[in-house]
Amino acid sequence: MRLALFIFVIGAALAQTPVPKAAAPKAAGPTFQTTGTLLQVMRGIMLPNSNIVFDAGNEPPKDDKGWLATQNAALTVAEAGNLLMIGNRAQGRPDWNQLAHGLIAAGQKTYKAALAKNSDALLDAGGDLTEACDACHKKYRDPQREAAEKAKANKK
Ligand code: HEC
Repeated sequence: MRLALFIFVIGAALAQTPVPKAAAPKAAGPTFQTTGTLLQVMRGIMLPNSNIVFDAGNEPPKDDKGWLATQNAALTVAEAGNLLMIGNRAQGRPDWNQLAHGLIAAGQKTYKAALAKNSDALLDAGGDLTEACDACHKKYRDPQREAAEKAKANKK
């Protein structure tokens, strides 16, 4: 009986002693690994898949197989928008992520149209997609290329 009380008292005292908490370990976030350069992603993923989407807007796929290929291409473009934001691809460019999200939104619109097998909607969404590509290129690709070409010409 006495022992039980003793244990109870000790237990209560221990319970009130603030135990210094170790810093909660941070949950490990997802890690991403890039494989190609941005240029390779553009040439190998963005260009071929968006071409399938643009072609299907101009000439509707003839059968389910064709629509499925279009749907998959649109899905790839939309998902690949995320690839533009991983690693060091943004290079600190201020509105880069916003431009990438613009591409994702346009890609999703083409995906929706392809799922509905609606070629008018696909043509319309394809226009948005072109604009999303151009918006980024006009700002972060073309001026840099022109500058690089000029520098090259001046060296000759
Ligand atoms: C958020 C910015 C961004 C978006 C959105 C974007 N691009 Fe690009 N793209 C670039 C940059 C920057 C380069 C230049 C990369 C380099 O030269 O290293 C480039 C290069 C390219 C090239 C290479 C041209 C060549 O030299 O052969 C192609 C093709 C291309 N993009 C296609 C697309 C298409 C198609 C889309 C839309 C479906 C798209 N891009 C969307 C930023 C973007």
